[in-house]
Amino acid sequence: MSGKQSGNKMWGGRFASGPDAIMEEINASIGFDKVLYTQDIAGSKAHAAMLAETGIISAKDAQEITDGLDTILSEIESGGFKFSTALEDIHMNIEARLRELIGPAAGRLHTARSRNDQVALDFRLWVKQQSQQIEAALGRLISVFLDRAEEHFDTLMPGFTHLQTAQPVTFGHHCLAYVEMIARDRSRFHDAIIRMDECPLGAAALAGTGFPVDRHMTANALGFREPTRNSLDSVSDRDFALEFLAAASISATHLSRLAEEIVIWSTPQFGFAQLSDKFSTGSSIMPQKKNPDAAELVRAKTGRINGALLSLLTVMKGLPLTYSKDMQEDKEVVFDAASTLELCIAAMTGMIADLAVNRENMGKAAGSGYSTATDLADWLVRELNLPFRDAHHITGTAVAMAEKNGCELAELPLGDLQQLEPRINAGVFNVLSVENSVKSRTSFGGTAPENVKKQIAYWREKMAGETDTP
Ligand code: ARG
Repeated sequence: MSGKQSGNKMWGGRFASGPDAIMEEINASIGFDKVLYTQDIAGSKAHAAMLAETGIISAKDAQEITDGLDTILSEIESGGFKFSTALEDIHMNIEARLRELIGPAAGRLHTARSRNDQVALDFRLWVKQQSQQIEAALGRLISVFLDRAEEHFDTLMPGFTHLQTAQPVTFGHHCLAYVEMIARDRSRFHDAIIRMDECPLGAAALAGTGFPVDRHMTANALGFREPTRNSLDSVSDRDFALEFLAAASISATHLSRLAEEIVIWSTPQFGFAQLSDKFSTGSSIMPQKKNPDAAELVRAKTGRINGALLSLLTVMKGLPLTYSKDMQEDKEVVFDAASTLELCIAAMTGMIADLAVNRENMGKAAGSGYSTATDLADWLVRELNLPFRDAHHITGTAVAMAEKNGCELAELPLGDLQQLEPRINAGVFNVLSVENSVKSRTSFGGTAPENVKKQIAYWREKMAGETDTP
């Protein structure tokens, strides 16, 4: 295979022939980076305005550039723009079209700029916007969870460890566990936004520029807090994207655990909850089935998001400063992870909003499996002043006894319990009920319904008092 076209329009001077077809294919990013067109055009407009303001180009050229870029924006938006692989990426596609539209003035736009700071800017703007959207979407999921927690602040359910019944809890408390996780996820995006809120434009190829640019002006125009402080770092790091993917992976992992719980809860064996028809599917052969496909897919899609993080970490890990073309591989995984996470959050918000909770089954299960055994042991410590280890042993024997009799702890005759410890009295039966067990867990952060109400109020107030991210 040999080159089949003359030198590239953008740097043809040094080249006698064009690229091989395979070179063109491996080199081009337009197939995916075209989604950055809004950011690219915004960046170019800010750059042109600054070039004019600082006297680097004339006001007339800047105006022509701006008008041309506006035309290009509407061409892309209306679907009339012809993207070309030969022009490699979004930056050169737009610049080439600008030249067609306005002629030589287009050539002045790239003064004091390189594709290296251009792509760093476009991608950063995109990741920042996505982070803001995800932050908002997670906020909606939190509100849905708060509503469900309020509705079920005293709904009993078994709490599990090892997926074995451990102690009774309330469904409201379980919902609030997710509120905590999702709120931390949200704050990870929030923090990442603060760190990425610096504008790399003006770093040029890597060393900065000799033109008297005003980087504060462009940073400000593009909604950044300030310009980046080191030109080499500006064009060579992608930690803002890594941080985005790390936050996305953690968030997806939380959603995946929730998805797994929904899958378990909605089995006929558990029967704790059922997804609405809107979020489940049937089987083409088994008419009785209602499958939790949406939850399963949220669980599975986590793999893609975690994979994206590993992929970009691997791309970046051996790169010397500054830009290397390897870094073109930063985008697809981030684009995919962002849209996947947004879809998962939206699906989960819908699933939780109309999840039908079966209080009766949850309540029944809460009382089975000797879930109040710890309450019995605690009672022995509190009322009879036994050391906890002895109390634990006596309670274990009581559980074995109940198991043998095929009854619950609360159904054991007092006389049988007294054989284990003669000082046990009828008062013990108060703590063996699931309701009382749950009500007694009033330690800060515990599952008592009164606590759940307080935590809901805390979160509602916190959410209401929030200010927007930068
Ligand atoms: N398409 C390129 C990328 O995504 C743009 C930057 C190209 N810079 C360069 N020096 N070849 O990374």
